[in-house]
Amino acid sequence: MNNSDKEGLGYPTQKPERLVERIIASSSPNDGLVFDCFMGSGTTQAVAMKLGRRFIGADINLGAIQTTTKRLLSVAKELADQDDKYTGFEVYNVNNYDFFRNPLEAKELIIDALEIQKNDAGNVYDGELDGRMVRIMPVNRIATKADLPELIANLPIKTFERRKAESPSDPVEKITLVCMGHEPDLKASLEQELAEYKLDIAIVDILRDKAELQLKREAEADVSIVNGKLVIHSFYPMNLMQKLSLRKEYVEDWRQLAESVMIDWNFDGVVMAPAVTDIPGKNELVGGVYEVPSDAGTIKVKITDLLSESLEMEVR
Ligand SMILES: C[S@@+](CC[C@H](N)C(=O)[O-])C[C@H]1O[C@@H](n2cnc3c(N)ncnc32)[C@H](O)[C@@H]1O
Repeated sequence: MNNSDKEGLGYPTQKPERLVERIIASSSPNDGLVFDCFMGSGTTQAVAMKLGRRFIGADINLGAIQTTTKRLLSVAKELADQDDKYTGFEVYNVNNYDFFRNPLEAKELIIDALEIQKNDAGNVYDGELDGRMVRIMPVNRIATKADLPELIANLPIKTFERRKAESPSDPVEKITLVCMGHEPDLKASLEQELAEYKLDIAIVDILRDKAELQLKREAEADVSIVNGKLVIHSFYPMNLMQKLSLRKEYVEDWRQLAESVMIDWNFDGVVMAPAVTDIPGKNELVGGVYEVPSDAGTIKVKITDLLSESLEMEVR
């Protein structure tokens, strides 16, 4: 697209909607599902919405997600009176990949989530849990037998020797290995390698046992109605704050951590239909104070942070 074209959103490879329209119309059925997994500024999704197609998009770049979200909200607004169009959409952050990107931080979150008593001594164990020594294996891949030599080299063999001499029939140590997926014979291999010491090995596999674990830190917000206005007093997206090493007391203005605020004044309990979509432009912040309409019922507020993680809450 020509730089000066009024459709242009500043994306160097943006295509004109009319071109994408021809491609979608000629290659998909009327109610088809269109997928562009490198969506950029979201031309494909915008055109699919206008043509009555359902759509999926993905992008690795947060800026592309923001540009597309904004664009689709405005297309949805234009199409508001056409009920044969799919104008609703959701934005997801998938795979927890943010979480696994920083192994040190992931380790900290695991220690918190499993309530492991942290060991700061910096030896082979990361902490203690229910009388067992805990070792957290690499967090961004499955644990394999290839990880064992390094583990074994760091185990306190001298202590094992002493305990064995003192009490030959007891295990010299109870060890829990925490991992993100593991080879099935990991435990048996480790026990076998150190068979002379009778180790008591347990494995906690986060991927397998994940359902019960809250790895992500929940965001918090203080929202209330003051003199007919909905006021967001504070917003603490804990994941984001942890990434920024930012403690609550140092958040000067919560709005600097917020990417958008959406409000549905009459939430039906199922689908959020926001009447307020406060998505600020570059160098601007969300408002944070919103006039409550007189016909408001159950109010649903969704505050999204700079990592695209959202906090949703109802205000009565
Ligand atoms: C050329 S632009 C897309 C243009 C768009 N499809 C269109 O037709 O106007 C390419 C996009 O792919 C995204 N991208 C690159 N690698 C990716 C990956 N592995 N997964 C998802 N998106 C990716 C980039 O962030 C960029 O926004």
